[in-house]
Formats: sequence, structure tokens, C-alpha cells
Amino acid sequence: METLLALLGALLGAAGGASAAAGFIKSPLSQKKLTDDSVELHCEAIGNPIPEIQWWFEGAEPNETAVQLWDGAWHDRVKINATYKQHSTSAIYVANLTLNDSGTYECRASNDPDRNHLSKSPKVKWIRSQANVIVIERPQISTTPEVTSGSNVLISCNVTEASTEIKGHYWMKGETKLLSNESAPDFTSYLIPKVDYETSGEYHCIFDTTPLLRGTVYVKVKPHVVAYKKSEHGNEGDTGVLTCKSNSYPSVTQWNWFKIVDGVPQPVVNGTEDRFFIKSGGNRTDLRITSLNLEKDPGEYMCNGTNELGEGSAVVGLRVRSRLAALWPFLGIVAEVLVLVTIIFIYEKRRQPNQVPDDDDGGSAPLKSNAANYKDKNVRQRNAN
Ligand SMILES: *[C@@H]1O[C@H](CO)[C@@H](O)[C@H](O)[C@H]1NC(C)=O
Ligand SMILES: *[C@@H]1O[C@H](CO)[C@@H](O)[C@H](O)[C@H]1NC(C)=O
Ligand SMILES: *[C@@H]1O[C@H](CO)[C@@H](O)[C@H](O)[C@H]1NC(C)=O
Ligand SMILES: *[C@@H]1O[C@H](CO)[C@@H](O)[C@H](O)[C@H]1NC(C)=O
Ligand SMILES: *[C@@H]1O[C@H](CO)[C@@H](O)[C@H](O)[C@H]1NC(C)=O
Ligand SMILES: *[C@@H]1O[C@H](CO)[C@@H](O)[C@H](O)[C@H]1NC(C)=O
Ligand SMILES: *[C@@H]1O[C@H](CO)[C@@H](O)[C@H](O)[C@H]1NC(C)=O
Ligand SMILES: *[C@@H]1O[C@H](CO)[C@@H](O)[C@H](O)[C@H]1NC(C)=O
Ligand SMILES: *[C@@H]1O[C@H](CO)[C@@H](O)[C@H](O)[C@H]1NC(C)=O
Repeated sequence: METLLALLGALLGAAGGASAAAGFIKSPLSQKKLTDDSVELHCEAIGNPIPEIQWWFEGAEPNETAVQLWDGAWHDRVKINATYKQHSTSAIYVANLTLNDSGTYECRASNDPDRNHLSKSPKVKWIRSQANVIVIERPQISTTPEVTSGSNVLISCNVTEASTEIKGHYWMKGETKLLSNESAPDFTSYLIPKVDYETSGEYHCIFDTTPLLRGTVYVKVKPHVVAYKKSEHGNEGDTGVLTCKSNSYPSVTQWNWFKIVDGVPQPVVNGTEDRFFIKSGGNRTDLRITSLNLEKDPGEYMCNGTNELGEGSAVVGLRVRSRLAALWPFLGIVAEVLVLVTIIFIYEKRRQPNQVPDDDDGGSAPLKSNAANYKDKNVRQRNAN
């Protein structure tokens, strides 16, 4: 896209610096919105020189006249974000829509040098592109209150005064679509078998209207804290990281770490000794211990997560190995080799005298075959004779 635009710009410029009239490459799109929603419209234009973009609004009332919109208009509900690099882009955002924001939103572009001249009328007029925004009254959705415990809990949503047709409804939890209990077009329910950390979350009932209607039921539990690994180990002098996670809703607002000393949790404060560092988010906390100490650091650590409903905790064990410990397997192999070498050496030492023939010690040379022994004996006997 960028390169294409650069190319277009180069072509427009290359025509001997000739100017090119403004043209739209993106126009705003008409849409339907609910009150209190926000709307976003985009407009892009090319030309040489780069055209200026303006936004104008004309209300739905027949006697209303077009007014120009600027960044900060309508008590700061209007925001305009424009860029003029290679070509012009402009986005307008209108927040907290009211019924009388319905109307025509017009993007105007021009690069005529006289475009803003008050008395001269420009040879080339502003080019225009329009979108209609229709704001309709947001229907009221009533939901069952938030849930914090129980089993077979039926949550439900109910629409009143829907101004548009309801084509259906369903439930969403995160990215997962849930099967709704079909009953009436303007009422839907969902059964939660058991309220626990797995079923906790935000349940959205969605009514298929234009635009979509959404209600939310919150299912909240206290933090379900688990250790990422029940025990961690590190070498003396290295850095050890202990991690706890919470996989329940709502997220943890406060994480604390403790070291269990004689069964009593002692708080671990961030930054202590310049060795203990705590990094926490809504779902996880990490306790990082640098230069692990063989005497002081091993033991049991506890993480404690708190939210509006209570707290949950988990214990992580930390083992620290001596630097030498890493050497043990190596030393073991060295020792083994030494023992073997010694055995072979001793054996060889003992074998040497046996080379000298000795009648009384005939059986002590197991490596020699009986035949060889026999031959030896014969030779010796002959020699003796
Ligand atoms: C437009 O007409 C309405 C009635 O249709 C009137 O109440 C309003 O004051 C008029 N606005 C202007 C700007 O003339
Ligand atoms: C929109 O309305 C909400 C609540 O009524 C308010 O907090 C917010 O500041 C408003 N935003 C703007 C841009 O006016
Ligand atoms: C304006 O648009 C630019 C580029 O599209 C974007 O990076 C920036 O965040 C926007 N600013 C605002 C206030 O929306
Ligand atoms: C738009 O509607 C609001 C209430 O929804 C009203 O207070 C305001 O005066 C209206 N503005 C115009 C220009 O009619
Ligand atoms: C829907 O809500 C309205 C008012 O909030 C109530 O009167 C009505 O009984 C509800 N309908 C159902 C099916 O719950
Ligand atoms: C469907 O909703 C009705 C009440 O509206 C309830 O009695 C029934 O148990 C629900 N069924 C399921 C499967 O949730
Ligand atoms: C711990 O201290 C470090 C800086 O020493 C800081 O970046 C970090 O946010 C602190 N963590 C907490 C949980 O306060
Ligand atoms: C918590 O984890 C969920 C997914 O498990 C993620 O969607 C959410 O953004 C996380 N919240 C925070 C505060 O990190
Ligand atoms: C967990 O932390 C909270 C404060 O956030 C504290 O009130 C509570 O006593 C702690 N729990 C334990 C077991 O230490």
C-alpha cells in the first residue's frame, strides 16, 4: 500500500511538477449505531499537492445546514486524527452518540490553492464523499445479578423496548459461543452447572439485531491460585524464578509473597537485599531471586493473590544445589576410571612374575588356555629332564 502510494505520488509529481486534482481513495461508510455507542469514519485522498481534508455534518432535520466539524467539537465528543504524508488520511470519532447525531457526515478534500479564500471562488471545487449515520435508541437489557456461588445457576437477559427486529440470541464467554436456552425472542437464559474457577468469567448475552445488543452477567470467584511448578531448583549463585498463576475471574488485584519459616509466613518484600524482585500482573506473579544462597534461600515460599471476593494461595518449594553438586557426576566418572585403572594396574603387576614359570602356581594364570598350560608344563618337564 505504502509503496503503491509512493509510486502514485512520484508519478503525480514527475509530470514536470504538474499539479493533480484531489481524488478519494477511501470513502466513509454509512452505519447504524445505538445511543451511547461511538462511531468512526475514515477518509483518504491523493493529489499533488497533498489535499486538505475537512469533515462536515448535516443533521437529519430538513431545515438544518451543514456545519464544519473540528477536533474537540460537540463538547469534546468529536476527535479528528489526520495525517498528511504522501497522501492525506483523516479519521473522525464521535463518542457518546445521541439521537440528534444522526445525519450526514461528509468528507471534503481539496488541494486548490484558493480553496479557503473567502472572496475568490476556487476554479476546482472541494470534492465530497458522504456517509449516513443513524443513531437509534438503545433498548434496555435487564440481566440477572452477578453470581458468586451456587450450582445449577440460571443466568438470563431480557430486552425491553427493542426498536429493531430480534433475529435470535446466543451467549458468549470470552471467545467461546455458548448454547442459549431458547425460549422467547426477547429473553434468553444460560445454565451454569457449578460456580467455580473454571466457570467464572463474563457472560455476554447477545441479541442478533442491527446493531448487535449485548448484556453482561458477571460470575465471580475468589482467586484460584496455582504454582506454575510445585518445586523449583537452581544452582548456588544463579537466579531462581518462582511463579504463581491465577486462572479465575476476576483477576487478582494484589499479589503477596511469603517465605515459610518454621511454619510461619514471613513477607518477602520487593527489592530486599537487592536480590528479591517481584513482578506481578492480573494473572501471574514472579518472584525472582538473584545469586541464590545455599544457606538462606532453600525452603517453601507462598504466593497469595487477593481480589474483591477473597484470597487464594499456593506454595512453591525452592531447592538450591551447591556449585560442587554439579561436579559430582563428573567426579564420579573420574573416580570410576581411577578405580578401573588401579585394578588393571594391580592385575598387570601381579601377572608379571607369573611369566616366570612356576610349577606351584600353575592355576593363577586364568587367561592362559589349558592347552598352553599343558604345553608349558611339558616344556618345563623336558627342561628338568
Ligand atoms: C428546525 O425546525 C424545527 C422544527 O421542525 C425547529 O424546532 C428548529 O428550531 C429549526 N431549527 C433551525 C436552526 O431553524
Ligand atoms: C461519554 O460518557 C461517559 C459516561 O457518561 C463519560 O464518562 C465520558 O467521559 C464521555 N466521553 C466523552 C468523550 O464525552
Ligand atoms: C492517529 O492515527 C495514527 C495513525 O493512524 C495513530 O498511530 C494514532 O494513534 C492516532 N491518534 C489518535 C489520538 O487516535
Ligand atoms: C441533542 O440532543 C440532546 C439530548 O439528547 C439535547 O440536549 C441537545 O440540545 C440536542 N442538540 C441539538 C443541537 O439539538
Ligand atoms: C423482562 O423485564 C421486565 C422489566 O425489567 C419484566 O417486567 C419482565 O417480566 C421481564 N421478562 C422476563 C421474561 O423475565
Ligand atoms: C431453560 O429455561 C427454563 C426457564 O426459562 C428452565 O426451566 C430450564 O431448566 C432451562 N433449560 C436449560 C437446559 O437450561
Ligand atoms: C519491584 O521493584 C522493581 C524495581 O526495583 C519494579 O520494577 C517492580 O515494578 C516492583 N514490583 C512490584 C510488585 O512492586
Ligand atoms: C488473564 O488471562 C486471560 C486469558 O487466560 C487473558 O485474556 C487476560 O487478558 C489476562 N488478564 C491480564 C490482566 O493479564
Ligand atoms: C494474603 O494477602 C492479604 C492482603 O492482600 C492478607 O489480608 C491475607 O492475610 C494474606 N493471606 C495470608 C494467608 O497471608
